[in-house]
Amino acid sequence: MAELIDGKAISQAIKDEIREETAKLSEKNIKPCLAVILCGNDPASTVYVANKKKACEYCGFDSVSLELPEETSEEELLNKISELNKDERVNGILVQLPLPSHINEDAVIAAIAPEKDVDGFHAVSVGNLLIGRPGFVSCTPAGVIQLLKRSNVEISGKECVVIGRSNIVGKPMSVLMLRENATVTICHSRTKDLKEVCKRADILIVAIGKPRMIDASYVKDGAVVIDVGIHRLEGKKLCGDVDFESVEKVASKITPVPGGVGPMTIAMLMKNCLEGCLRQNGLLNE
Ligand code: GUN
Repeated sequence: MAELIDGKAISQAIKDEIREETAKLSEKNIKPCLAVILCGNDPASTVYVANKKKACEYCGFDSVSLELPEETSEEELLNKISELNKDERVNGILVQLPLPSHINEDAVIAAIAPEKDVDGFHAVSVGNLLIGRPGFVSCTPAGVIQLLKRSNVEISGKECVVIGRSNIVGKPMSVLMLRENATVTICHSRTKDLKEVCKRADILIVAIGKPRMIDASYVKDGAVVIDVGIHRLEGKKLCGDVDFESVEKVASKITPVPGGVGPMTIAMLMKNCLEGCLRQNGLLNE
């Protein structure tokens, strides 16, 4: 039976470390500050933004919150971002996605100053990650690396298969595993023999967006399985992209849903914001 990788406990430990470092920074009169922009009233986004504000409070950060109406124009939103880019108190800027359909998300992401891009979505952040320079890393894949390291999973030299090639998860995830010296294969909807490829993995990272698609027949005996998916089934129960009950019988370690990758995203956002603050204050040796 697989051992559980407890994302709730690991994310709590990270937030506690950040809180301690933030308390020390306050002796130098420095306090990290995150600006969060929510445009419209998507119910899931509203909950995410509230949780981000709560995490800021817990860690001892300031937060600035802009709640803009659904009909906000792209130009108005870009102007707000420009103001936050110039605001010296603000160390990180996050625009909650998805945006209303009349706003071009790419233009909005491109408008955020790379030194405040705590989501790690800007082309400069992605480019820095690819060539191994310091910069912000997308929070969910960064959280997966922390889950693996803090669960003592050896990455170097291992066969890693990532299913999914999104800009936010699959692509940066693959680059991060490569940076940790794994041998990385990226699979996607056009991959032939997905099952055979997955069965080679020592570490299988699943981000396909299909509820419970990956069962034990995709998993090598003793593999570590990370489930990035989250879905609400009828009857409100949450599940991931992995069929947990089937896979826990063959994997050596596995993340549950909920309580696996999910809680890590906000913890890594806090980490990015602290890092931005330290970098902007010349306190990082890079
Ligand atoms: N919407 C869902 N996840 C995210 C995230 O990590 N960052 C932003 N900005 N929006 C999201």
